[in-house]
Amino acid sequence: MQDHVTTHQAEEDARNNEILIYLNGQIVPKAQAMISVYDSGFMLGDGIWEGLRLYDGCWAFMDEHFDRLFEAAKAIDIDIGMSRETLVSALLETQKANAMTTDAHARLMITRGVKTRPFQHPSLSQSGPTITIIMEHSRPSIPRPIRLATVPHLRGLPMTQDPKLNSHSKLNCILACIAAEKAGADEALMLDINGFVNTTNACNFFIVRKGAVWTSTGDYCMNGITRQKVIDLCRANDIPVFERNFSLVDTYGADEAFLTGTFGAQTPVASIDGRQIGTGQMGPMTLRLRDLYKDLIKQECA
Ligand SMILES: Cc1ncc(COP(=O)(O)O)c(C=O)c1O
Repeated sequence: MQDHVTTHQAEEDARNNEILIYLNGQIVPKAQAMISVYDSGFMLGDGIWEGLRLYDGCWAFMDEHFDRLFEAAKAIDIDIGMSRETLVSALLETQKANAMTTDAHARLMITRGVKTRPFQHPSLSQSGPTITIIMEHSRPSIPRPIRLATVPHLRGLPMTQDPKLNSHSKLNCILACIAAEKAGADEALMLDINGFVNTTNACNFFIVRKGAVWTSTGDYCMNGITRQKVIDLCRANDIPVFERNFSLVDTYGADEAFLTGTFGAQTPVASIDGRQIGTGQMGPMTLRLRDLYKDLIKQECA
């Protein structure tokens, strides 16, 4: 059997079979949470989303997530048709309906809505956006450090499909992930248009060299909230941190590498393109940053 691990793996939880889903103002059982085949999200990937995590009754960095969501909706010209407060209430209502208090993950999705005809033009979405919240019991369970492989799929320029948009359309990232899996890895390490190391298909990417933490300039990757928190934690704790261009040579020779994202916080990397990184296990800087991040969440939720 293939040793298959993903960065968004959680413990099996039978309660997730019976969860309630927020769908356009209603809370409905998972089995009844259906949208139209004419939905622009289904048909064209025309929508935006956020992933949020619940820690001890508190949605971590909620303001940053809602700022990014509303910014993305404006960028793709979707009128959410709901105030920020009402959308936050929908999230809390879904949490309450599911009696979730901690270790939950929410995917809040907004598409341009149901189209009158099955074609691309945005004016065909005439009945308002489709708004859904999937909230699952979720305790990340990644049994070993992640193996990455570089792939031919690049992080593109902002004028093609801005990689900062959390759009429903993730085909470039999905193709990257498929290529990495076919190369025997778990997730793809993606380069920017100049060949510098940028990000993975679903998480932001960091290396550690001689006690310093490096990540990409941020130009071609998702403006990850966890990424920014890690950079801020380094600055606050006198850990040298650089947002810079770096190559695969710097990366293969790193002492440690790790990924960041709301789902898994900081996930260690074991190898890249078959080269072991450091000891192949979680390194001391990754461990330290994980602890600092846990403390930050505690402060945020105090
Ligand atoms: C491509 C990509 N990179 C990175 C991230 C991590 O971002 P965050 O730390 O805000 O969850 C995400 C999450 O949505 C993503 O889709």
